[in-house]
Amino acid sequence: MAIIKIQKGTKDILPSDMPIWHFMEEKANEVFTKYGAKEIRTPIFEATELFARGVGDTTDIVNKEMYTFEKSDRSLTLRPENTAGVVRSFIENGMHRLSAPVKLWYKGPMFRYERPQAGRQRQFHQVGIEVFGIKQATADAEVIMMAVDYLKSLGLNDLTVELNTLGCPKCREEFKKNLKDVIRPYLPQLCEDCQTRFEKNPLRLLDCKSPECQEVYAKPEIQAVIQGDFICEECSEHFNELLSYLDTLGIKYERNKLLVRGLDYYNRTVFEIKSNNLGSQNAVCGGGRYDSLVKNLGGEDTPAIGFAMGMERLASLLGEKKEEKLTAFVVSNNIAEAIKLTEELRLKGITCEFDLTNKKFVKQLEKASKVAKYAVILGEDEISKGEVTVKNLDTSEQKTVKRNNIVLN
Ligand code: HAM
Repeated sequence: MAIIKIQKGTKDILPSDMPIWHFMEEKANEVFTKYGAKEIRTPIFEATELFARGVGDTTDIVNKEMYTFEKSDRSLTLRPENTAGVVRSFIENGMHRLSAPVKLWYKGPMFRYERPQAGRQRQFHQVGIEVFGIKQATADAEVIMMAVDYLKSLGLNDLTVELNTLGCPKCREEFKKNLKDVIRPYLPQLCEDCQTRFEKNPLRLLDCKSPECQEVYAKPEIQAVIQGDFICEECSEHFNELLSYLDTLGIKYERNKLLVRGLDYYNRTVFEIKSNNLGSQNAVCGGGRYDSLVKNLGGEDTPAIGFAMGMERLASLLGEKKEEKLTAFVVSNNIAEAIKLTEELRLKGITCEFDLTNKKFVKQLEKASKVAKYAVILGEDEISKGEVTVKNLDTSEQKTVKRNNIVLN
């Protein structure tokens, strides 16, 4: 019969991959907990409207990439990202009543119908954080610090933090108008997507990867607008304050005025952390401030900022980690005693197996040396004396000890 294959753009995370995944997950818990963040797990599917209103209906994510389906006359969508879901939960569970800042972290699968390529999947995993309730730039600095700290805890130090400010809706209007004015004469030369973006979301023009469009945007009069300072005094103060905190923290950054991010909810600070070792999909982390989203989704006016990291991209930077061997393998032809001893060892917290098929003694010993650090040998002689022989499978040293006195380390 024909075998059923895995879907394009998805990947199995196999037992041999698990040491790296456990490492990433454990470090996330450890590092984010240090900052006072609590873990949250929200559903994998939500009302489609949450993403249309939350992420924005002019974005590629909402327009082209969502896995949407109908059930009982409801339109549901597999989450393409988790900020909208966490905001929904924040509102529904009245978390604005908690003392600010409310810091929530998460990990889990996301779904985007994108063209698969290295570093880009249709089901991928993110680890992320959302911080609610603080409008000051201290929160921006702390969130960026959390990202850098987490990456460092994984041993990833050689990454670049890119930073920009998108201003507030007020100053951004002026910028959009100026941008449209200089780009309008070149409109017929732009790709189809940019023609739509021009009308619906001109900031996203800067994010286009098409070489023809890039050539247009490189023109001096357009660059003058892009590189010019459009942000108002308040937004400018916020950004400068953030930069001074980053300097204090010793976090290096690069200003990238083309960084606009692919989601509509951002204002003021946006950032990405990039690696030189990942090819074209080089962002391991993306985030920013989204001060209007809680209100736009029906909650109390609450400023917020966060980020998410692609775990597959992190994993590919981390390379391989060896699978841990079992601590012990019980070798015995007395099955009842082997079962009992294995259980005794597991109760002591020792990872342990025995031979379920009761093979010959020598075969069991061979198996033990493949899968475990110690063979715990239980022959008839040992059973009668209440003892076991512990064999270190690296050094071949062995000693006989009382059964209730087994220490393996
Ligand atoms: P994002 O930039 O869309 O932001 O995604 C964050 C990270 O997820 C990316 O930098 C990348 O590492 C990873 N990623 C995204 N799409 C894929 C894909 N198709 N395959 C593999 N990895 C991918 C967000 O999702 C925002 N919710 C981040 C945020 C949180 N902003 C504020 N709070």
